[in-house]
Formats: sequence, C-alpha cells, structure tokens
Amino acid sequence: VKTRTIALLGCGTVGRGLVELIERNRSLIAERSGVDLRISKILVRDLAKERGGVDRSLLTVCPEEAVANGADVVVEVIGGLDPARRLVEDALDAGKHVVTANKALLADCGPELFRRAAERRVRIGFEASVGGGIPVVRALSSGLAGNRIERICGILNGTCNYILTRMAEEGLSFESALSEAQAKGFAEADPALDIDGTDAGHKLQILAGLAFGRSLGRGSVRVEGIRALDREDFEAAAYLGFVIRHLAVGRDLGGALDLRVHPALLPKDHPLAHIRHENNAILLKGDAVGEMVFHGRGAGGAPTASAVLSDIIDLARHGTGPALRIPDSEPAEPADPESERYFRFPVIDAPGVIGLIATALGNHRISISHASATLVSGKADQGSVRILAHACRASVARKAVDEIARLPVLTGRPVALSIESND
Ligand SMILES: NC(=O)c1ccc[n+]([C@@H]2O[C@H](COP(=O)([O-])OP(=O)(O)OC[C@H]3O[C@@H](n4cnc5c(N)ncnc54)[C@H](OP(=O)(O)O)[C@@H]3O)[C@@H](O)[C@H]2O)c1
Repeated sequence: VKTRTIALLGCGTVGRGLVELIERNRSLIAERSGVDLRISKILVRDLAKERGGVDRSLLTVCPEEAVANGADVVVEVIGGLDPARRLVEDALDAGKHVVTANKALLADCGPELFRRAAERRVRIGFEASVGGGIPVVRALSSGLAGNRIERICGILNGTCNYILTRMAEEGLSFESALSEAQAKGFAEADPALDIDGTDAGHKLQILAGLAFGRSLGRGSVRVEGIRALDREDFEAAAYLGFVIRHLAVGRDLGGALDLRVHPALLPKDHPLAHIRHENNAILLKGDAVGEMVFHGRGAGGAPTASAVLSDIIDLARHGTGPALRIPDSEPAEPADPESERYFRFPVIDAPGVIGLIATALGNHRISISHASATLVSGKADQGSVRILAHACRASVARKAVDEIARLPVLTGRPVALSIESND
C-alpha cells in the first residue's frame, strides 16, 4: 500500500464531505486500489468555525503552508475565481496534480489551466464539476471514448429542478420554492447563479468541450433562467401533456454547435421528464452506444465528495485524469435550432387581442397548432394568451416575441419555451 497525501483547499460542504468519506472508507480504498490517503493540511478562512469531525491541527489560513508539506494532490473546493485560480496555478507550478469541483473556474479559464498542467506534466481531475456524484465526466472521457457524441441533454442544476418540481406539483410560488431549496442547502451561496442558468451553462460548457472536442470559450452557451415562469405555465404544460424542466442541450450539427440552457417543455414520456426535486440527469447519445441516461444526486457534500475522491484515487493509481481540449481551432459557430414552441402572452382584456397576436406570429410565418386564452373582464393584469406553435427557428421566435412585446395590449414580458422532443 502506497501513501498519498492530499492538501485540501476549502472545508465547507464538499471539503467536509471529503474528510468524512476518506475517514469512513479508508480501508476499503486501500484494499481496492492500494493507496492509503492522508490529508496533510486544510486551508480555510476562519480557524474558529465549528467543523465537527475535522482534525483542527490540520487547519491553516496560509495557502503556502497548505500546498507545501509535500502533498501529492491539491484538492480545490473553495469555489469562485479568486483566490481559487491563483491557488490552482500555484499548485500546478509546484508540480502537483489538482482535483477541483469548481465549474465556474473551469468555464472561465479551463483551457489555460489544462495547458499549464500539460506543460508541468501533471493532471487536473474535474469529475465533481458536473453532475455532483454522477460519473459523467469519466463516462465521456473513457467509457464512451470510442463514440462520436451526437447529443447531450441534461438537468444539471438541482436548485432549478427542485423549484420547478415544487411549483408544478404543489403550486408553490417561485419565491417560496426558492426559499425551500435554500433551507435544504441545495442553492449556491449566490442563488442567482442557479436560477439565472449560469451554473448549468458552466457545466454544459465543460461537458460539451469533452463530448465534441471543440474549443468552447466564455459565452459559447446561450443561457436563460427560470425567473419568468408562472404558475399558469405549469398548468398549461400539464393540460397539454408536458412537464417543464430546466435543460442544458448540446448538439453537434456538423459545422455548428447548438449549446443552450433554458426552461423547456418535455413530453411526459421523455426520459428526463420524471427527474424530480434536486436530482440531476444527463442523457447522452453516442453513434455506437445509442442513448443512455445517467441519473443521481447532482449536489450535496457526500455525492460531490464521491466524485472528488474518484479523481484522487485515479491520480494515485495511474497518474491520469481526463483532459479538456485546449483551444486549437476556431470557436464553433452558434446554431439556430428549430423546434416546436410554447408562448404565453400576458394581455389586457380588449377586443381583437387574440387576433393581434395570431397575426403578428403569422407575419413571421409561425404557424399555430393550439391556442387558448383567459381574458378577465375588468382585471387588466390577469389575462393571457397561450399558444403552441409548429416548429420554427429560435431566431424567428425571438424576433416575433420582441415585436409582440411592444404591442400596447401586453401587460408583461412574454414567455417563450421550446418543446424538446426526444429524437
Ligand atoms: N455544495 C455542493 O453541493 C457542490 C456540488 C458540486 C460542486 N460544488 C463546487 O464545489 C466547490 C465548493 O463548494 P462548497 O459548497 O463546499 O462551498 P462552501 O461550503 O462555501 O465552502 C467553501 C470553503 O472554502 C473556504 N474558503 C472560501 N474562501 C476562502 C479563501 N479566500 N481562503 C481560504 N479558504 C476559503 C471556506 O472557508 P471557511 O469554512 O473558513 O469559511 C470554506 O471552507 C465550489 O466550486 C462549488 O461550485 C459544490
């Protein structure tokens, strides 16, 4: 049995989860993989904080002290860009392997960090950065390495999925569903990263880089959050035979990449339609293997620690980990995907209001497959027109919605959701 030492940067939800997991499964890990894992130092901000079960003599507030000490692997679970980026760079420069759960960091400067690691002949493990405990990074980089990946469709943010499930099933308002998610500890420290889609966008950027082997810079994913959704959208979706999920979609269309994160309608028999609460799921389609779905806990201390630990063990056993493609090509062209769509237009009760909207859609050659409206006489803020439309391009839908949003009968911002079929 060889001993491998770990410098742990951060001891919050994930860091503590890792300390506990290593303690609990130490002999199992040694038996299975021939490595005895020891934590040499733990970097924190506040030495006085209560951290039950963590050996206080390992704590330090000095980054240099944490990374020195002859550690073999540096685990970064601080989060954010600063000081995480500097600490990861220092660890790589010191010739240490790095394991990180930090998707924001990888989305911001992953290619630069991977280039640096390659120059220093060390590796970066990032299984925990996407899908919490679900081993999807490893699936893409080794299990499915012989496949051309055609499609990724994922529920990658547990907070959004929790909120959408509670709004649909219990009729909760957006605010109360978010408070519940925060109370249960699913939400990021800044919940805007979850509900505005940024976090899922970072994760899709990482997955798509691996799956499609293309250069993906900041801003390569079109991102939309879930704030605009209303109870009425859930009722309309249910009535029409759909559920609403916050999806991350990646498709390789030859020249162009279709990369987007947004709420969407899924038919009730779609493989991701039954993913509820804080769970994550990722559907991958490979040219040889066909479709497969990974489903499990996408956040939380123990599941995320499970992914961090898998990278530590791989590095200890083989000195290898997955590699993100370093940009060496032109960034992929963005796609303009075509799909059926759902629209909700909040309107006043005025004669001809439905006709106005239908005409504006028709002017953009968007053809309607179903329409319904609720117009409440005397209550200006309670009317809406809901429309299902046949397939049209995203750019055309956006133009039509912008135009309709300017009509004087509108009382709020329209909602437009694509319908994601599974083919
Ligand atoms: N939580 C999850 O379920 C989850 C899932 C997947 C990925 N991740 C990712 O994992 C990372 C860690 O998340 P987390 O939820 O464990 O965060 P967290 O609970 O906020 O813990 C962060 C830790 O980093 C330490 N820290 C923060 N700033 C520091 C600084 N300037 N110097 C030294 N230490 C500092 C904190 O010290 P103190 O304890 O002294 O404050 C704390 O121990 C993030 O990148 C996150 O996106 C989290």
